[in-house]
Amino acid sequence: MQKAILITGASTGIGRHLAHYLAERDHLVYAAVRKDTDFAALSGVPNIVPIKLDVTNLEQIETAVTFITAQGTGLYGLVNNAGLGGLGYFTTWSEAEFHQILDVNIAGPWRMSNAFLDLLLAAQGRIVNIGSQGGTVSKKLYGPYTMTKHALEAYTVALNEELRPFHVHVSIVQPGGIVSNIGANSLPDMVTRLRRAQPPFADEAQQLLASFDNPPPPPAADAPESESNRKPSSPEIVATAVYHALFSDQPKLRYMVGTHWEGNRVINTLIDRLLDANDSPEHSYSREQLIALLDQQLQARNEAVRPLQ
Ligand SMILES: NC(=O)c1ccc[n+]([C@@H]2O[C@H](COP(=O)([O-])OP(=O)(O)OC[C@H]3O[C@@H](n4cnc5c(N)ncnc54)[C@H](OP(=O)(O)O)[C@@H]3O)[C@@H](O)[C@H]2O)c1
Repeated sequence: MQKAILITGASTGIGRHLAHYLAERDHLVYAAVRKDTDFAALSGVPNIVPIKLDVTNLEQIETAVTFITAQGTGLYGLVNNAGLGGLGYFTTWSEAEFHQILDVNIAGPWRMSNAFLDLLLAAQGRIVNIGSQGGTVSKKLYGPYTMTKHALEAYTVALNEELRPFHVHVSIVQPGGIVSNIGANSLPDMVTRLRRAQPPFADEAQQLLASFDNPPPPPAADAPESESNRKPSSPEIVATAVYHALFSDQPKLRYMVGTHWEGNRVINTLIDRLLDANDSPEHSYSREQLIALLDQQLQARNEAVRPLQ
């Protein structure tokens, strides 16, 4: 049965791919974009209805609620996908830039979910937040971005707990590197921030800027993935996970998607965090107890969760 799904940030990358993926499967997609050219590009695509919406603009959000309500389609799914990237040492972010990334990546999903909640409750629908493996892993230069994705993790868990009694399920999809416009879109601000870098970061920032002008020769195509040889995946893997989160009768809370190398990095980070939590004089399990706990959790999961289809 056709369901109505609203996707934010549908102009490019993951959001645009997802809009087509759902529309091709006969769902009705409200594809939220900011620019007239993107609106025009999506107009006339079967099963896609473009709407103008910036997730920081309350007036546009309210107009979108009124518009979708008037269509009489209801709203079964909200995919909070719109997001900003951006790299830079913490001290090189201006006050305005810092607030902007928090506003789009954290307050955006919160604002959207609040605004469309009545429709989602009526449909007993789903909310899917597009997080990131940066919601688990953090590293230098990625600070503010990964802060926002860590916040989205907490938001997803708490919102899901609030809404489950009312039959609305909330999930988070956590992609690794995905082919999209995020790098190109965030490059100019990143260059500005690197140019702003002061000691003790200035030398390293200059080296990074120089490496943009003279990039090292590309590694062989079959060279294994590494920190300096990332292998971004197709947005298709994100769309497949979002589809499961929207339509499975057993949606998962978290969907981590990406390459084997990326998966290892996340799992090692989580093991490290587990060992940090366990390293306490008041509260510490032995190796055997930890393994027994892991076995119990695995068993509970195998009984409860179906594999991704
Ligand atoms: N690509 C990756 O490697 C990757 C990995 C993990 C997570 N993600 C997440 O995936 C999501 C989509 O990113 P992407 O990779 O597809 O990047 P993208 O190609 O840069 O797309 C970002 C989208 O967000 C929109 N957007 C930005 N600010 C907005 C605002 N204030 N209001 C409404 N829309 C806004 C952009 O619209 P405009 O075209 O109008 O700017 C664009 O449609 C983001 O949440 C990102 O953090 C991406």
